[in-house]
Amino acid sequence: MPATVQTKDYGTVVRERHSVRHYDPSVTIPRDELKEMLAEASLAPSSSNTQTWRFLVIDDPEAKQRLLPIANNQKQVVEAAATIAVLGDLNGYKEIGRINDMAVKAGYMPEDFAKQFTENSLKLYASLPPEKMRSIVQIDGGLVSMQFMLTAKSRGYDTVPMGGFNPQKLVEEFSIPDHLVPIMLIAVGKAATPGRLTARLPIDDITFWNSLNKS
Ligand SMILES: Cc1cc2nc3c(=O)[nH]c(=O)nc-3n(C[C@H](O)[C@H](O)[C@H](O)COP(=O)(O)O)c2cc1C
Repeated sequence: MPATVQTKDYGTVVRERHSVRHYDPSVTIPRDELKEMLAEASLAPSSSNTQTWRFLVIDDPEAKQRLLPIANNQKQVVEAAATIAVLGDLNGYKEIGRINDMAVKAGYMPEDFAKQFTENSLKLYASLPPEKMRSIVQIDGGLVSMQFMLTAKSRGYDTVPMGGFNPQKLVEEFSIPDHLVPIMLIAVGKAATPGRLTARLPIDDITFWNSLNKS
């Protein structure tokens, strides 16, 4: 991260992040900054570090208009600076050799270990049933999405995750190939109206210790 970026502390970020649905349409986010935020989000964990997420950034006014009906006319997709379509790459595991080579070059992984890890991983992922692969990319995509939203908040931006869109229409309109699965849309920009506060279940109602029996 460039030294000039001011970020909020973690406690503030998690407490002040709220889904924002009304954005100041005059605010743009420079592509370089969006890239920095996506790079920070990409520090998220993923299955065998395969990083199967892919980002389709929709920041052009004409593309935003095409996205609007696909996103159930949720106007945040036109008012926010950008909407990120988080996609999961069902073939993304094939990058594991390149990823492990990078780790070797950086001194993070011994070469013989990387070779074995790559071979085993390629075999394993290639043998998975399609629904398992789909589940893996969805989990990875959820993690990177959350990290993106926290990163954005830490830099003073607001977001809203959206599952309310038609994935088939998104695929058609933006010519998304079959191996990329739409996971989530995330609008990012500056709030025109703050997000409303939301309640959370008491932690004792949803936490169990060693057994699901409460008594
Ligand atoms: C998978 C998922 C899908 C969501 N889809 C939408 C959506 O389509 N439109 C919307 O306005 N908010 C959507 N939300 C935002 C939730 O309504 C919101 O996260 C929740 O009410 C909690 O509020 P908070 O994010 O402000 O803490 C979605 C959230 C998630 C995690």
